[in-house]
Amino acid sequence: MIGSKAEDIKTIGVIGAGTIGSSWASYFLATGRDVHAWDPADGAADKIRAFVENAWPSLETLGVVADGASPDRLTVFDKAADAAEAADFIQESAPERLDIKQALYADLEPATRPDVVISTSTSGLLMSELQAGRSHAGRFVLGHPFNPPHLIPLVEVLGGKATDPAIVDWTVDFYNAIGKRAIKVNKEVPGHVANRLQAAIWREAIHLAVEGVASVDDIDAAVAYGPGIRWSLMGPHLTFHLAGGPGGMTNFVEHLGPPVASWWDDLGSPQLTDAVKKTLIDGVADEVSGKTVPELAATRDRRLLAVLKALKDSEEG
Ligand SMILES: NC(=O)c1ccc[n+]([C@@H]2O[C@H](COP(=O)([O-])OP(=O)(O)OC[C@H]3O[C@@H](n4cnc5c(N)ncnc54)[C@H](O)[C@@H]3O)[C@@H](O)[C@H]2O)c1
Repeated sequence: MIGSKAEDIKTIGVIGAGTIGSSWASYFLATGRDVHAWDPADGAADKIRAFVENAWPSLETLGVVADGASPDRLTVFDKAADAAEAADFIQESAPERLDIKQALYADLEPATRPDVVISTSTSGLLMSELQAGRSHAGRFVLGHPFNPPHLIPLVEVLGGKATDPAIVDWTVDFYNAIGKRAIKVNKEVPGHVANRLQAAIWREAIHLAVEGVASVDDIDAAVAYGPGIRWSLMGPHLTFHLAGGPGGMTNFVEHLGPPVASWWDDLGSPQLTDAVKKTLIDGVADEVSGKTVPELAATRDRRLLAVLKALKDSEEG
């Protein structure tokens, strides 16, 4: 709601509560808010509650559970409109299909106060298409999280053609006020910002593997044990500002920029052909040497929590 502060947002509607929605619900609960959730899947209420119970210890470890916050402040409704009715803010995480989300918005719109911001988690749909036909289209915004949103801070916020620009700014401020790190995306482009950056890295990683420059395992190590560690602290621009020494970016673009720019013409543009897919699948099989995806995910989650905690504990200001 324009003009309202984060503390005025006391009840959040979580509409669609699978992988992303349940994780959002966990985070919003941890901030000390009431969550009104809805998901049409069979047994959804039990699944959402189980997700929240499972996520809660990690949120406590991270130190982000507010006084008075509790998983008991989750209410799961049988109808989307009922979950939306008392909500001061809505986070929609329904399946990634334009027709489903548009039909959902048609149900949600009359059920909510017209000033309630409705934010979608969509990874790839265009806000301008999602909000088309809505009578209060200006309050629809895109708030794209990273999995799992209860742990990863980044949220990309952008509006469509009909979104009120003030709503975009309000939504950025709201996510930041509740402890996320929101960025404002100024244009609708496929993949927003972070997924485009990931796509650029993956494209070159595939090219290097296909050309036999290094194994899939070693290319992953080149990221995870090198720049990837710095990237958890700062992005490529600030990284290179520091690489420029006391002269910073001014020095970097003059002296080290040209050699880097000269490699751009040599970067690859692989296609995902069957042969390329086989190279990646075989390469990852070698890399994981028999570990299952759940085993790898458990290790990732344990180490992710340790990294997030270290970053939080070392925050300045
Ligand atoms: N999975 C990710 O890594 C990721 C990351 C960022 C954003 N997202 C976005 O989040 C959204 C949800 O993705 P997910 O990965 O949680 O999918 P999911 O399949 O895990 O969850 C979708 C949920 O929506 C429910 N659903 C079905 N029909 C519905 C309807 N008509 N209205 C509301 N809910 C309905 C399903 O029962 C399911 O629980 C998508 O828009 C996706 O692009 C996903």
